[in-house]
Order: sequence, then C-alpha cells, then structure tokens
Amino acid sequence: MPIFADENNKLFTIETKSSTYQMAVGEYGHLLHVYYGKRIGCEHIGSGFLNADLRYLVTYYDRGFAGNPNDTGMDRTYSLDALPQEYPCFGTGDYRSTALQIRNAEGVSCCDLRYQSVRVREGKYSIPGMPAVYADSEKVDQKEGTGSWGRDSADTAASAQTLEIVLEDSVLGLEVTLLYGVLSDSDVITRAVKIRNCGAQTVYIEKAASCCVDFLYGDFDLIHFHGRHGMERQLERSPLLRAEQVLQSRRGASSHQQNPFFILASRETGETKGECYGFQLLYSGNFKGEALTDQYGQTRALLGISDELFSWELRPQETFDTPEAALCYSVEGLERLSDEYHRLLRRHVCRGVWRDRRRPVLINSWEAAYFDFDADKLERIAAQAAELGVEMLVLDDGWFGKRDSDNTGLGDWYVNEEKLGCPLGEVARRVNQLGMRFGLWIEPEMVSEDSDLYRTHPDWAFTIPGRSPIRGRNQLVLDFSRKEVVDHVLDQITEVVSHANIAYIKMDMNRHLTDIYSLGARAQNQGTTLHRYVLGVYDFLERLGERFPEILIEGCAGGGGRFDAGMLYYTPQIWCSDNTDAIERLRIQYGTSFGYPISAVGSHVSAVPNHQTGRSTDIETRGVVAMAGTFGYELDLNLITDQEKETVRRQIQDYIQYSDLIQEGRYWRLSSPMENEEYTAWEFSSEDGSDALLNLIRTGAHCNSPVQYVRLRGLAPDGWYRLEETESTRHAHRQKNAGNAILANEKKLYPGSALMSAGLPVPWMNGAYQAWQVHIVREK
Ligand code: GLA
Repeated sequence: MPIFADENNKLFTIETKSSTYQMAVGEYGHLLHVYYGKRIGCEHIGSGFLNADLRYLVTYYDRGFAGNPNDTGMDRTYSLDALPQEYPCFGTGDYRSTALQIRNAEGVSCCDLRYQSVRVREGKYSIPGMPAVYADSEKVDQKEGTGSWGRDSADTAASAQTLEIVLEDSVLGLEVTLLYGVLSDSDVITRAVKIRNCGAQTVYIEKAASCCVDFLYGDFDLIHFHGRHGMERQLERSPLLRAEQVLQSRRGASSHQQNPFFILASRETGETKGECYGFQLLYSGNFKGEALTDQYGQTRALLGISDELFSWELRPQETFDTPEAALCYSVEGLERLSDEYHRLLRRHVCRGVWRDRRRPVLINSWEAAYFDFDADKLERIAAQAAELGVEMLVLDDGWFGKRDSDNTGLGDWYVNEEKLGCPLGEVARRVNQLGMRFGLWIEPEMVSEDSDLYRTHPDWAFTIPGRSPIRGRNQLVLDFSRKEVVDHVLDQITEVVSHANIAYIKMDMNRHLTDIYSLGARAQNQGTTLHRYVLGVYDFLERLGERFPEILIEGCAGGGGRFDAGMLYYTPQIWCSDNTDAIERLRIQYGTSFGYPISAVGSHVSAVPNHQTGRSTDIETRGVVAMAGTFGYELDLNLITDQEKETVRRQIQDYIQYSDLIQEGRYWRLSSPMENEEYTAWEFSSEDGSDALLNLIRTGAHCNSPVQYVRLRGLAPDGWYRLEETESTRHAHRQKNAGNAILANEKKLYPGSALMSAGLPVPWMNGAYQAWQVHIVREK
C-alpha cells in the first residue's frame, strides 16, 4: 500500500513508484514536511514502525530574529520561520509566503493549525463541483451510443488511496483537512484542502493554497510557461533567486500569459537525467504559483487559487474546497516527468466516451470562411474535404443571432436561418450525407451589447455599479457565478443542439474578465465572484456533458487562453493556439508538451501565407506539425493545388494509421526549439518499442552547412529497425525531387541502440522549413 500512517509516531509517508513523501507532527503539534524525493522504500515493521523515519533531516537551531511559538517556553530552537511545514499559516511567526490566511470578523489575520487526526481510506477523494483526478483508468472501448459521462461520485477503486490529515485552530474553531491522493499506476501525488468553520463566528479565507512543499535544501531552476495571445506556453528556465517568484493570472481564466503548471529542477537536470518536481493545478481561473528561496537556502513552492481579488466568507458550519494540485517527482529528467503527467491527464483526468476514442479528423470553417458563409458554401468546403478523407465539418463562429462580425450577437443562441439559407438541422444533414460528422462553435460565457439577451438582461453582464463596463473584442462577460444565467444559456444551447445532429462542440471564451461585481453576491461576498464564476463554467460543462454524453467537446479561449488540467476534466482536447503558423507552433506545442498530453492539443493545417504571421510553409510541413495534436484542417481545401490535395489525402491516411502511436504512445522531445536553431524534432513510440514515428522540421537553411544528427528514444536497444518515410511526406518530397538519404535506404536495418546512442544524420533538404517524418518499425 502506498500510504503509511503511523499514528503512534505521528509519521505519515506516501510512496509512489519512484518517490517518497513524508510528514511528521512536530513536538508542538505542527505538521512538518520531512521529505519529498527519490523513493526510500518504506516497509511496515512490527506494529507499524517504518524503516524509513527521515525526521533526522529536520534540524532545530536558535535562529536570530525568528519567533518561537509561546508553548515552546524557553526553547528558542523551534521556529516556524525556519521549519519545513506542510500547510503553513499566516500569523505563526513564519515570515515566508504562507499557504493559508484567515481573517476573523474582528479583522484580525491569524491562524495556527495543530494536528488532530489522520485517516487512510481506499479510493481517491473527489471534490464537489470541481475537477479532480479519478482512479479508474481502464481503457474504455465503448461502442458509439453507449457512452456515459460523469465520474463525479466518490471514487472507490482499489487502485487508489486517500490520506486525510485533520488540523485545527482551536481559537477560530477551524478544521482544515489536508487531502492526499495516490494512484497505484502513477508517480503523481494529488493534494487538495477542505476548510470547515466549526466555530460560532464567521471567518474570511483570504488565501488557501492547494499545496505547499518546503524543500530543506537544493539549488533549483524554475521552469515555467509564459506567453501571450497567439504565443502561449513559452518555456523559460532560470535559477531561483533569493526572492519570491510569483506566476499568476488575474484574468479570470488560467490565461495565455501564464500557465498553472511549473517545474522545479536541479541545475543539472535535462530531458533524460536529473531530479525535478512538477506542480500542476487542476483549475481554470485565477491562480498563483510561488517559488521562494529563504534566508537559509530552503525553498518553498506554493500553488493554488490566487489570493488576489479573493476573499471567501465562511459562515459557521460552511465548508470551502480548494482546487486540486497534482505533484510529481522524477529522478530521470524532464521527459519522465512529462510522461507521468501525460498518462495522468489522459487516463485519470479526461472523461467521457472520447477519452480513449480516436478523435475525428476535422475541418473548421473559421480560417476557411470567417463570418462569410451560407449552407451552400459550407457544403462546398465539406464536400472537397470529405473527398480527401476529412471526417467532420465544424461550423465555427457566425451561425447564430445577428452575427456577421465579432461585434454583435453573442448571447443570442438561436440559429440564423436567413444567413444559412436553411435550418441548422438541414446543414448537419447535408454534411452527414457526405459521410461526415457535424460540429458547432459556441461561446456561452459572453454577451454582445447588440444582442437580444443584453437588451433583456443588461444586469447579467459583469458591470460595476455606476460605471460603464470595459469591452474586450467588443463584448462583455456574463456573470456565470449566477445560476440563473448559466441555466438560461445552457437551455438555449441545449435547444439548438437537440435539433441538429451535432457530434462536436467547440466551447470558446474570447476575452478576460473585468468589472468583477456580481448582483448575485452581497458586499462582503464580492471576493468570491471570480471563483464562483469558474464553478459556474464547470457546472455548465458538467451539465452539457451529462445532456450530450456522445458529443466531443473541445475547449478554447482565443486559442490556448484556458489550456489547463481543470478544463481537460470536461473537454478532452483544447485548441492550443490561434496561431496556426507551423513554425511558431513548434515552440507553442513544445512548451505545452511538458505538462499536457498530445491527445489534448488541438492542432490544424491552415492556409498559406499564414493568416497570423504571413509566413509560407509547405503543406507536408504543416501536416507534420499538426499531427502532434488532434489533427485537422482550417482552410478551404478547394483552394489548394491538386498536388497538395494528394498530399492531404495521404496525410489523413497517415494520421489515422499512426493515431494510436500519436494519441496513446510515449512522446519524446528530441530537441528544443528554444535552443536548437537548425531543427525541431519529436517522436512518438509504442510502449514496447515495436515502432515509433520520428518528426523533424528543419528550421535553419544554410549553404554548405554542417550535418545535423538526431538521437531517438524509446526503442528496444537490442532491436533492429527499418526506416520508412510516411506516405504523405514521401509523396511531397517526390514531387519536389528532394534528395533524401533515407529514401534510398529503406531496405536497410538499423540497430535500436545505435539509433538512440549515435542517432541518425538529418538528410539534406533544400529550402526552409522542410519536414521529415519517418516510421521506424522493429523487424527483429
Ligand atoms: C477564437 C478562436 C478561434 C475562432 C474565433 C471565432 O479566436 O480561438 O479559433 O473560433 O474565436 O470568433
């Protein structure tokens, strides 16, 4: 069993496949953090003793200018400003940033949590109304039409355990339960916190992180993923300073600008070696990640809902749940850390029938037609796409209300039959007749001032009394913290979806939140609005999923503005970025891959010159890049050449052929686009190394340049492999008469160990941004 709770010794240990996490109750009742790192290997000895009591690591010294709790008497060696803690509170003499801050009705901020009890139970805890990791990971091979949606009831699968440690502040009457979840097939430890007011007075939660980890020593680099609209999740790595480093969003969504995922890595850690720790939050709103190295060289990492613009009134007997954080430790470098997160999100976070099904190859109308379409034009786009093998047409923005530009119509979720020329059901039928599924775009959280909804309910949009609301993309945000608003929009959309054969929904969100004031909340509760908004979005998605369990829902927020593990609980894929330029996507998808699986990454081939950057790349290059995701198209395929059409036809066949490898296989970053200016390469391999797909894009173009080499991963060292260019890239290269070293050598067998240790020379490819995609098959 992975959890050892030694009540007599007050020593609590969690062991995963490769890590050990230990806590102990200190002499005065504080829950101290003892160790998180490489697996020690605990065993029950006698009546519950462990052979791995690591409390000797925690030292006690008299520290200058560090206070001591009153009950330590004359003992000056016990200071919470220096001791490693599991859930540090503001008001205990710890001057570092803390996990919990409570204000009472008199306005006093102080909380002092002491240990009360411990409990271990089978199964993984869940969190009411919020995303959480679940245990059951069986691959579901459901036939169409038999799917169910939710997994929200408490998970009792035997393959998981929950550790609950109850702490209490006796003055406030506050009970804080720290929850830890462990799955037998994962190296992840999940954490969440339940705060209950058992006292007689109302208190205010001013900050409640989901997790805190205090490291006793170590020189760490912080790896985080910053960005902007159209350039999300750019990796940045820098040494931790002796200062507080904060990663956060104040935008009401997890945001393009920062991602609720970061890594602390030892200085020498790289892809294949070294220690690193991942911190990932399953939450889609404002968050705060903190990494700080203190005066003694100890590092504290915190992650949770942001305390800015947050204040939660907790009346007697009420409970507050934090979002969940998923922690992971790897001793084998960053690729192993990513692999653990990929498996976790794919099997223990994403839900519904589409979790394990191959996602349909789609064509999206946005960059093909923008707002300018009717049913006939859509049918023309669909017909050409169907002829080449595309499986679904997605009708993007512009089908509803009075919506011929992005200035009007949001909130009016009824079909604009005049524009389409027929009912939506008819459009779906015409698409279905081509052998394709039909999908639809929605943006439920938003409202245009020029809409019937706004004219009827102006008070449903966030507006500060006495002020005019700030516009973003000329639209306002509906107050989803109010149930009646969510109910109304959900019913409108249900009506539309019920009257057409819809197989897919793209749920968009195209601006961040301002004017945070809810008519649904009292003055002292306005600080809850942003969190309640996120809960409203989750409620919308949960009920939409329940009503239409067969529909595949793709998340989107102006591309990747809400690309987080919380959303993946409701939408198994998310449009990764509005930037469809294949070369820019290399960096975006590279950064995204550290925390998120390929099956979550919405990625499409679009037209050239690219609509965002003006750059032109060949169709096979765009195809190879888009295949590192849920593959699709975002252009009118009637407008490309016959040769390109033939490449597209083969691309789709390739994608379908390799979809298991891509969606379910192991993913390897073979080079970094942030460092390597010559090429970017990545690979998918099957679990047993029987085959792999190498993908490489040349990003440098030089005269008489040095030969580049790429080393593969995930093959059997004693295996022999055949190399074969994929049909689509081979076809494109033949058309261009591009010399390709591998093409000439297809009969040759290569030893797996050599492909991994010595690598492969990258063939000479004339022209910028050439693609090379090779299927590597074990022959013996
Ligand atoms: C956002 C999305 C795009 C598209 C437009 C439609 O920007 O990210 O893919 O759906 O909205 O307005």
